Amino acid sequence: MSNALAPWRSPLSHALHRNRSQPFSRYLQLATITPDGYPANRTVVFRGFTPQGNALKIITDSRSEKFQQLHHSPWGEICWYFSQTREQFRLFGSNEALPT
Ligand SMILES: Cc1cc2nc3c(=O)[nH]c(=O)nc-3n(C[C@H](O)[C@H](O)[C@H](O)COP(=O)(O)O)c2cc1C
Repeated sequence: MSNALAPWRSPLSHALHRNRSQPFSRYLQLATITPDGYPANRTVVFRGFTPQGNALKIITDSRSEKFQQLHHSPWGEICWYFSQTREQFRLFGSNEALPT
């Protein structure tokens, strides 16, 4: 496994830093797929990067629909707009549930 940072990681860190005066810069949208194949989207809070650096930490309740959906299909997409620097990030990836 490579220790290299993903290409989006440094630009995203910069955006977080440059938009740090706006607390809502840590809100992003997370889209998942329902068992019926429909999209499901909602706002969540960014809680930092994982120690390896190439994944985002998001906290939720294991009883939530998003958790159940990610269990069924681990694929999701985030969309994150930084209003101060007017940048949008869209990242597609899969869930890796971490123990609490
Ligand atoms: C500003 C904001 C931040 C939120 N942050 C989180 C979060 O970090 N984790 C979370 O589970 N839900 C968060 N929510 C609530 C979700 O948007 C969503 O309504 C809830 O988790 C239920 O989603 P689900 O039924 O698709 O699982 C947040 C809502 C708002 C408006």
